[in-house]
Amino acid sequence: LLHREQEIDHLAAVLSTALRGETPSNVFVYGQTGTGKTAVAKYIGREIEKINRRGTGIMQRVSHIYINCKIVNTTYGVLANIGNSFIRNWGEDLIPFTGWPTEKVYEQLKRRIDEVNGVAIIFLDEVDQLFYNSGDDVLYYLSSMNSDLSEAKISLIGISNDLRFTELLNPKVRSRLGEERITFKPYKASQLYDILVDRAESALKPGTWDDGVIRLCSALAAEENGDARKAIDLLRIAAEITDRDGASRIGEEHVRRATVQIERDVVSEVISDLPLQQKLVLLAITIENLAAGEKLITGEVYRTYNILARRLNMNVLTQRSISGMVSELDMLGIITAKLISKGRYGRTKEIALAVDPKLVRNVLQNDQILSELIGTLKGKALDGWKQISLI
Ligand SMILES: Nc1ncnc2c1ncn2[C@@H]1O[C@H](COP(=O)(O)OP(=O)(O)OP(=O)(O)O)[C@@H](O)[C@H]1O
Ligand SMILES: [Mg+2]
Repeated sequence: LLHREQEIDHLAAVLSTALRGETPSNVFVYGQTGTGKTAVAKYIGREIEKINRRGTGIMQRVSHIYINCKIVNTTYGVLANIGNSFIRNWGEDLIPFTGWPTEKVYEQLKRRIDEVNGVAIIFLDEVDQLFYNSGDDVLYYLSSMNSDLSEAKISLIGISNDLRFTELLNPKVRSRLGEERITFKPYKASQLYDILVDRAESALKPGTWDDGVIRLCSALAAEENGDARKAIDLLRIAAEITDRDGASRIGEEHVRRATVQIERDVVSEVISDLPLQQKLVLLAITIENLAAGEKLITGEVYRTYNILARRLNMNVLTQRSISGMVSELDMLGIITAKLISKGRYGRTKEIALAVDPKLVRNVLQNDQILSELIGTLKGKALDGWKQISLI
C-alpha cells in the first residue's frame, strides 16, 4: 500500500509485542476521511491471512477480526461477532444474534479467545458510530479484556475520522483505547499522484490518460483536503465524462467538469438529508431568491416559510427557530447569511442562496412531501415560483 508504510510498520510493531508474550497496546487510529485508514486495516488483515495460509511459524497464532461499526453498532452485536469469529471447530454453536444477557456473551467470547490461545487483533472501524449508538460499554469491556484473559492476548484497534467523540468517552476508556495513537495525515499532491497512477494503470484503458491529467487530479484533491477517495472519484468521473463525450482521451476540460459534478453531488446529498422543516426554510429562500434575485432578509423568508408550512398543514415554527435553521444552512454552505443592522429597527440577517437555485429545486422535488407542493407552485408562477406570496 503506497505511502502508508510507516503506519503499517507501527501497527505491526504493536503486534510483535504481543507475539513476544507481552501485553499489546490498544491503538486509536485517527485521520480525516480518505486518508487510507480502512485501506490499511484491510491490508493488514490480508497480510495476516496470507501468512496463516503459508503454514507454520509464530504468526500462525495471530488472528484478526474486522468490524465496521457503522453496520454492527450495538454492544451485543460487536461481542457476538467477535466471539463467533473464533469458532474453530464446526461442532460448536454460534452465539445467537439476540437473546443472551450481555454478560454471558462476554464470558463466551473470553472463553473462546482464550481457547485459541493466540493474539487477536480486533479492528473496530468507524468506532465513533458504535459509541454514538451504544455508548462506551463495549469499549470498556474490550479495552480491558487482557486482564481477564489467561492465555490469549488481544489488541484493539479503534479507527475513526472523528475526534469529538473521544472527549465524550469515560476517561478510563479513553486512556485505555488510546494507549497508542496513530494519526494518518492527509495525502500530499505527490502521494496522490502515485496512488492515482496506480489506479489508472489498473482501471483505465491505456492511451486514454496521461501524466498531465493525473497531475491535475492530484493537485486538485490535495488542495482541498488530501482525500484519496476524492482524487480517485475525480479521475473516475472525468473518465466517465470523456466516454460520454465520445472523446478518446481524458483532457483538462473533462477534469474541470468532473469537479463541478462532484460539487453538485455533494450539495444534493446535503440538501436531501435535511429534516423536512429545514427543507421548507430552504424552499422559502429559493422561492424568494428566484423572485427577488437578490439578497433577502429573515422577515421575507419567514413570511414565505409560513405560507408553505400552512399549506402542508405542518407545525409552523417560530421566527426564532427559523433563524437558527438559517444559521445552520449557512454553516452547511448552502446559503450565506450575514447579520446586518437596520438602525432603530434592530438587526436582521441578509440571506442569499450560495448554490444554483435550479439544483435546489430539483433536489427538493425528490422529497415525497414537497414534490406535490412544488408541482402546484410551478403552474401559477412565472419562471419558477414568482407569485407564491399571492397563493
Ligand atoms: N495508500 C493508498 N494506496 C492506494 N489506494 C488508497 C490509499 N489510501 C487510500 N486509498 C483509496 O482511497 C479510498 C479511500 O480510502 P479509505 O477508505 O481507506 O479512507 P478512510 O481513511 O478509511 O476514510 P473514512 O474516514 O471516510 O472511512 C479507497 O478507495 C482506498 O482504496
Ligand atoms: Mg474508512
